[in-house]
Amino acid sequence: MTIIIGCDHGGFNLKNKIMQYCEKNQIKFQDFGTYSNDSVDYPEIAFKVAKEVVNTNSKGILVCGSGIGMSIAANKVKGVRAICVNDPYMAILSREHNDTNILCLGERVLGTNAALYILKIWLETHFLGERHLKRVNMINNYN
Ligand code: RB5
Repeated sequence: MTIIIGCDHGGFNLKNKIMQYCEKNQIKFQDFGTYSNDSVDYPEIAFKVAKEVVNTNSKGILVCGSGIGMSIAANKVKGVRAICVNDPYMAILSREHNDTNILCLGERVLGTNAALYILKIWLETHFLGERHLKRVNMINNYN
C-alpha cells in the first residue's frame, strides 16, 4: 500500500521527518505537498489527500500545526475516517474499533519522536471488524 501524505506550512517540518521515516522503513508514500514553509490553506491539502485515500482505498497522513484543522477538513470527504491523535493508545483504538484511514498529527503539539511512534503504532494496528464493522458501515452510509 502507498501512504498518501500531506501538510500545510504548520506541518511542513514534521512531514519531512515522516517521509524520512518512511524511506528508512521501506514504506511507500506519495507526497501531496505542501512543498515549502510558505503559508497555504490546510483544507485544500486535506481534501486532495482525503479524495486520493478514498479513491485508492489506501491510508493517509496529514500534518498541520495542531492536527485539528486537517482532521476536520478530511472528515468532510465521504469514506474518510480521520483522527487527530496525540497518544499511542488512541492511535490503537482508532484503528481497532474505527478503522481510521487518515492519521492527523500536530507539529506544534507533538515532538518528532512521539509523532513517529504514534505513526508506527497506527500503521501496524489492524481493524478488528466484527461488531465494529457494522458501526463503521453506519458512518460510511451516512449522507
Ligand atoms: C496554521 O497556522 C494553523 O492554523 C494550521 O496549521 C492548523 O493548526 C489548523 O488547524
